Amino acid sequence: MNNLHIQVIHGPNLNLLGSREPTHYGVQTLADINEELVVLGDKLGVRITSFQSNHEGELVEKIQHAEADGIIINPAAYTHTSIAIRDALLAIKLPFIEVHLSNVHRREEFRHKSMLVDVATGVIAGFGTQSYALALRGLHHHLTSKK
Ligand code: DQA
Repeated sequence: MNNLHIQVIHGPNLNLLGSREPTHYGVQTLADINEELVVLGDKLGVRITSFQSNHEGELVEKIQHAEADGIIINPAAYTHTSIAIRDALLAIKLPFIEVHLSNVHRREEFRHKSMLVDVATGVIAGFGTQSYALALRGLHHHLTSKK
């Protein structure tokens, strides 16, 4: 029985994972990542739903209507620019983990800035697709240790 629900949200260009800049992002596809999260979620007792969009407004809408206990979000390039995504996450008051496949702090300077980092429950970057699994374990622990 999966008592908790975590909404996973992927931002722009992550639909291209598998073929997109594999040195930064690896060879696994978004479908692979989502499947692995469902399998890990079943072990932890967490129902996982996933959503990807290339559009900022669609990401905002998904956040606003999230019926979940928490969110795992890789906002991709919007990490560095989107006050709208920050405001949506603040509005719904759910715990969320910011995730990056790559270690953004080892990359170009414009990727060092995150609009979400100071309001996130936690941040995980640099572990490739495992960043998501680590985020799920971390958010699960956060949600269950609070109860
Ligand atoms: C990313 C890092 C961002 O800087 C970049 O724009 C992405 C992916 C990552 O997962 O490493 O699209 O969020």
